Amino acid sequence: MLFGGRAGHSPAACAAGTVGRVTGLFVTLEGIDRSGKTTQARLLCDALGAEALAIREPGGTAVGERVRDLLKDPSLTFGPHAEALLFAAARAELCRRVIRPALAEGRVVVCDRFVDSSLAYQGEARGLGVDDVREINAWATEGLLPDLTIYLAVHPAAARARAGRNDRIESEGAALQEAVARAYDRLAESEPGRWRRIDADRPAEDVHADVVAAVEAARASAAAL
Ligand SMILES: Nc1ncnc2c1ncn2[C@@H]1O[C@H](COP(=O)(O)OP(=O)(O)OP(=O)(O)O)[C@@H](O)[C@H]1O
Ligand SMILES: [Mg+2]
Repeated sequence: MLFGGRAGHSPAACAAGTVGRVTGLFVTLEGIDRSGKTTQARLLCDALGAEALAIREPGGTAVGERVRDLLKDPSLTFGPHAEALLFAAARAELCRRVIRPALAEGRVVVCDRFVDSSLAYQGEARGLGVDDVREINAWATEGLLPDLTIYLAVHPAAARARAGRNDRIESEGAALQEAVARAYDRLAESEPGRWRRIDADRPAEDVHADVVAAVEAARASAAAL
């Protein structure tokens, strides 16, 4: 049955050193600005119904939302280290207070961005180094990784042509988006078991059908373990 039943334990999270057993399914959506992450997260949560928990990053907790306001404030400039640490701080709160408890209840957590955004933006595009950013995030999240990461792959020029906001990070322009797109390409290729690349330069309903299929497949493989 489509999205019926509860998922098995989370192999990726347990392999990464999760504190305690995880029983739900942790799905993240990644991609450059305006690739359609928020649109697809909403469509997926609508399809999943009550068992889904929708989360956006940075945010999702009282502390995280304050950090989000700081990071999105166009009047502020951050060094790359401070920016990466602020994202990790918001994520630490989110994992501990929201994501882990929801997974322990067997829910499907759908997160609009997660650690991989930090690897792509701060690690690669900002030049901090993927390994260092991965390390601080592994510490912040106590090793929690998604079971499935959906990469909404879209050409930066096509994404730019879509309507949307223009916050501090987005306003840095085309070069940043192109560097981030290359970073996502590399990340997805380096960990094919967790990532599912989906062509997002298509109507949202077609992208959604592939997202649903990817989540069903992840559930089936988690349940089989
Ligand atoms: N498949 C699609 N084709 C065309 N336009 C789309 C598609 N999906 C979303 N959009 C539109 O593109 C814009 C950006 O979509 P959305 O907000 O979902 O992207 P996002 O990846 O969450 O962006 P951001 O990184 O800024 O949060 C919105 O106006 C949305 O309606
Ligand atoms: Mg969004």
